[in-house]
Amino acid sequence: MRSIEDNESYEILLEQVRGLCSDDKQSFFSLNGALANVSTLLRHSLEALNWVGFYFRNKSGDLLLGPFSGEVACGCLPAGKGVCQKALSDKDVVNVPDVNDFPSHIACDSKSRSELVVPLFASDEVVAVLDIDSSQYDHFDRNLTSLFRKTGEIISGRFGLIPNYLDIIRINSHYIGSSDERDE
Ligand code: SME
Repeated sequence: MRSIEDNESYEILLEQVRGLCSDDKQSFFSLNGALANVSTLLRHSLEALNWVGFYFRNKSGDLLLGPFSGEVACGCLPAGKGVCQKALSDKDVVNVPDVNDFPSHIACDSKSRSELVVPLFASDEVVAVLDIDSSQYDHFDRNLTSLFRKTGEIISGRFGLIPNYLDIIRINSHYIGSSDERDE
């Protein structure tokens, strides 16, 4: 895949994301496949991205590794620690120009220098995050951040289509894993 970096190309890329997310099978498993494709599309279409992927929130508030493109990563990001969890609690995009300046940053890939995390919503709740790591400092400028915000909106729309997704997290957390499911 060719790298693309201008605004017109960003629009084309967003069209491709919409296409990958347009599958009308409204299940968690088909969403999972779509997100695997989105990870690979973004990582290979844009410069200097060493890791692109998703973490799903469980009912304990941990973030569990989902589909991704990049090196082997942490399987579970515990509540209250790291950049991804900050995006979850802020309910907003977190842009970290230098990961060394973020005290509780969780280093999964030693090549990462800057990081952008986009929260993903079902109704008004954060149910997952899109995590993007760059091998360059201060990589996520306004245009690139806007591209990933829009990507997040498209994917959030897709979460919103899954019937009872929030109930799956709250009641049937074993569908996406839960550290305390054995206690129930
Ligand atoms: N750096 C993230 C952890 C996930 S890896 O970057 C893939 C964090 O601090 O939450």
